[in-house]
Amino acid sequence: MGEVLVEAKDLKKHFEVRRSPLDVILRRKSYIKAVDGIDLKIEKKQIVALVGESGSGKTTTGRLLIMLEKPTSGEIWFDGKRIDSASPKELRALRPRMQMIYQDPYGSLNPKLTVYQSVCEPLIVNKREHSKELVMEMLALAGLRPPERFLERYPYQLSGGQRQRVAIARAMILKPEFVVADEPVSMLDVSLRAEILGVLRQFNERLGVSFLLITHDLAVASQLAERIAVMYLGKIVEEGATRDVLSSPLHPYTQALVSVVPRIGEEKRKKLILQGEIPSARNIPSGCRFHPRCPYKKEVCARVEPELRRLNGVKVACHFAGELS
Ligand SMILES: Nc1ncnc2c1ncn2[C@@H]1O[C@H](COP(=O)(O)OP(=O)(O)OP(=O)(O)O)[C@@H](O)[C@H]1O
Ligand code: SF4
Ligand SMILES: [Mg+2]
Repeated sequence: MGEVLVEAKDLKKHFEVRRSPLDVILRRKSYIKAVDGIDLKIEKKQIVALVGESGSGKTTTGRLLIMLEKPTSGEIWFDGKRIDSASPKELRALRPRMQMIYQDPYGSLNPKLTVYQSVCEPLIVNKREHSKELVMEMLALAGLRPPERFLERYPYQLSGGQRQRVAIARAMILKPEFVVADEPVSMLDVSLRAEILGVLRQFNERLGVSFLLITHDLAVASQLAERIAVMYLGKIVEEGATRDVLSSPLHPYTQALVSVVPRIGEEKRKKLILQGEIPSARNIPSGCRFHPRCPYKKEVCARVEPELRRLNGVKVACHFAGELS
């Protein structure tokens, strides 16, 4: 096993939300349990994918790991130091080492800045040496070639793919060790996705950047990530080597996700269509939180929450994992 760079231990983020009239009468607070006790490790130079349906808590997890969000409880470790209780000064020193790439390349770039200004800005803010050469080097690594052609352009003069490349160059210019890429290709044309994922891979291989790759697309995860964690309603339900998890998923939720991806699930298994929507993180079902949608549920499932346990080299949270196919 490689050296661990980022680690979450029993990490929770519960957002307090407006109380319903019943909450007010009962004088109770109401919470959205966006992240509800997860353990996750990301090694140096590793790409870990975090997958799951909308609302499962992926973005909140990513923001917590780089301390853009303060956890309700649990621990976050970065490069051997606990950072969830870091002082503002300590956090400022850490910021350049952890970056985020967002889904929306339109929203993440300032429309008033040229490409050069956008990519250079983090260097200036962090009082680092900056030069046109350095900016051009990053743009070229992000696939904007020849880079000098792009320096004076504004976001509106770029295509969606080019904007995302600029956003990536901007995130990488400080040579961070850890990057959270939150659905980095989901707003791009399908034809562009592999190329942009290739750019992330380049940064991983050449600069040794570790990534948490957040995606709801298993094909994206399988292209890039060595390991995969599957999240459901604030919990990780299965985690392991991407190859193992996607070729023989153990958790019924992962099985359902895999069965509807043509290239991965092709012919091998029947489509497993889940009933209903993911429940609200405000009202998490008892026992196994997946039980209202699980085709294999038994009586115990609504009562007892399954622990994440090791099985065939993978971690899985299901009472009957290994017995289901
Ligand atoms: N600042 C906030 N205040 C209150 N609730 C929040 C906040 N941020 C997220 N949530 C809630 O937490 C839950 C998890 O949200 P999150 O954005 O982490 O999910 P996600 O897996 O990234 O979803 P998506 O795939 O749609 O991006 C959702 O129910 C969401 O509404
Ligand atoms: S514990 Fe029960 S309800 Fe939960 S996934 Fe396993 S079989 Fe389904
Ligand atoms: Mg999200």
